[in-house]
Amino acid sequence: MKKILFVCLGNICRSPAAEGAFIHLLKEKGLFEQYYIDSAGTSSYHEGQRADSRMRETASKRGIDLPSWSRQATADDFHEFDLILAMDRKNFQDLKSICPEDDLLSKLKMFTDFKQQMNHDQVPDPYYGGSQGFEEVMDLVIDCSKGLLNYLRV
Ligand code: 4NP
Repeated sequence: MKKILFVCLGNICRSPAAEGAFIHLLKEKGLFEQYYIDSAGTSSYHEGQRADSRMRETASKRGIDLPSWSRQATADDFHEFDLILAMDRKNFQDLKSICPEDDLLSKLKMFTDFKQQMNHDQVPDPYYGGSQGFEEVMDLVIDCSKGLLNYLRV
């Protein structure tokens, strides 16, 4: 079983959207049983909360459910997961700083490394913006999920 963790700052917008989009894709392809998927935040600001209602509504319009409850990422996640995917460069740096062993750092990547059609090098934080930002996040996490699955299947 492959274990993948998606990480942003609050774990209520971007990483729950990435988690939900990737789970949706795995189910569509009949591959969900082969994976363990989770998401987390570098902060504990929203610990125990469901995904932001704006993010859930945007996902729901595409038929995607966001099952996450916010939790903070831990050093132990580097042992537990095979791949840890940061949404932006700050998330990447914050994760790097809690990585318990240098050998485990290769598990950490930017989610946008797997983009296919879109031209972003990080997933922009939609929290303080309007609905367009949430649509952009959804487009991007769907695009990167496809590239991630292609990468994992080779
Ligand atoms: P996320 O979005 O990192 O994509 O979950 C944010 C959620 C909350 C905050 C910032 C970004 N905040 O400052 O509370």
